[in-house]
Amino acid sequence: MTQQVSGLLFFKPFFQKTPVRVDSSLQQRRHTLPASEFRNLTPQDAISVFEIEREAFISVSGECPLTLDEVLNFLGQCPELSLGWFEEGQLVAFIIGSGWDKERLSQEAMTQHVPDSSTVHIHVLSVHRHCRQQGKGSIILWRYLQYVSCMPGLRRALLICEDFLVPFYLKAGFKEIGPSAITVSNMHFQEMEYTLSGQAYSRRNSDC
Ligand SMILES: CC(C)(COP(=O)(O)OP(=O)(O)OC[C@H]1O[C@@H](n2cnc3c(N)ncnc32)[C@H](O)[C@@H]1OP(=O)(O)O)[C@@H](O)C(=O)NCCC(=O)NCCS
Repeated sequence: MTQQVSGLLFFKPFFQKTPVRVDSSLQQRRHTLPASEFRNLTPQDAISVFEIEREAFISVSGECPLTLDEVLNFLGQCPELSLGWFEEGQLVAFIIGSGWDKERLSQEAMTQHVPDSSTVHIHVLSVHRHCRQQGKGSIILWRYLQYVSCMPGLRRALLICEDFLVPFYLKAGFKEIGPSAITVSNMHFQEMEYTLSGQAYSRRNSDC
């Protein structure tokens, strides 16, 4: 009788009563949280989201794209338009989106979710300060765009950002569509658009 344990071949005599030695790292791994996991956020994640947001924005500009109440609202109304990246159970990066039904984003888009619309408005992308400049922002954005491309009816993603982040979004495949009508305490923004590839309609050739 033989058993294969973590790549090693053990011979187990029929009279052997003690269990076969199991690689202890395998046993440990079974009891730990996944090293890396992407999933939709829920209202239970709102505090972790807001902690990252607060550090990223309030400490810099005194303003935050979403208040805690707005985070709770969007994660309650449209959790399917959010994505969190967790490492060993800790949130390291996230995106929160909501539905929008007009050509351009306006002030009311900042607090509204329009169900069954063809545009996803990305309110916020943020990476935990300990994890920035490691490619995580680009990776979660790419995964999010792939994911929403698979959602039936969604055709494009819109967001606003400050000038210094325009190159980051251009590199991700967004196009600049001009200055945004939205202002927040004297801050001005550029509006960016990403055309979703509509993979929901060609599933045979996609990962959807
Ligand atoms: C912006 C942010 C999401 C980028 O995520 P990240 O994981 O640090 O970025 P990546 O490592 O994937 O990519 C790095 C690129 O982003 C750009 N970038 C990141 N932060 C930047 C900043 N503050 N100013 C200018 N460019 C910046 C750089 O151009 C860099 O490009 P390079 O590799 O050619 O130098 C992250 O820095 C963050 O959370 N910032 C605070 C919150 C924020 O501003 N969010 C965006 C608006 S909602």
